[in-house]
Amino acid sequence: MDNRNNTIAGWVLFAGICALGLTIGSGMLFASHDPHKPGYPIEDAEGGEGGGASAVPLPNLLAAADVAKGEAVFAKCAACHTINQGGANGIGPNLYATMGEPIGQGKAGFAFSDALKNVGGTWDFEKMDHWLTSPRKFANGTKMSFAGLSNPEDRANLIVYLNAQGSNLPLPAAEAAPATDAAAAPAAGAGKAAAPAEAAKGAEGAPAAPAEAKK
Ligand code: HEC
Repeated sequence: MDNRNNTIAGWVLFAGICALGLTIGSGMLFASHDPHKPGYPIEDAEGGEGGGASAVPLPNLLAAADVAKGEAVFAKCAACHTINQGGANGIGPNLYATMGEPIGQGKAGFAFSDALKNVGGTWDFEKMDHWLTSPRKFANGTKMSFAGLSNPEDRANLIVYLNAQGSNLPLPAAEAAPATDAAAAPAAGAGKAAAPAEAAKGAEGAPAAPAEAKK
């Protein structure tokens, strides 16, 4: 009886070990060979460099931009550029009143690369935004060795700062749909400021209204 019990116990134990072994074995086999999960991340086609486009149109970003914040962003440029009127050229040209100037021609005594000289046109908001997103893509072969600013708001802030240094081009009209709040804010503010005076006039004028109505 003892013997038989031991034998049974033995088989049960053996079966258990086999089952355990199978579980571990198959786990190892299948877990590491899941064909649906690649072991490396697949990058966005647009990801990384150059993915600086914004969902918000540039005019709307500019309308909401902040000159003081742009001045802070300019710290990244100051190693190579001065921006005060009559400031010296450094590694890069002085940038006073650059907005609105012909591209790559501006500053006396600065030798622009052919790549930038040959772009043509003048520095408008759109072109400056492209240039600051990726100088190399805007003018392949430029000697401005700056990777670019990937944040659209940083660029917009910087551009209004640049514009405020001697250029003062009128900002492009903000597009109506998505960012109306930000874009319309200054106009709405002006409207509100005028409103109380209008309202007061309206009140004074009120008695005249019935006369109008009689006609
Ligand atoms: C490492 C030095 C360096 C840095 C940093 C740098 N630039 Fe430049 N920048 C240059 C050089 C060099 C040129 C001339 C490029 C050429 O001729 O191809 C230039 C040209 C320019 C021009 C063209 C000027 C014109 O009259 O056409 C603008 C605008 C400009 N930079 C803006 C900026 C801004 C804004 C920043 C900061 C976000 C910046 N740069 C950062 C070196 C630099």
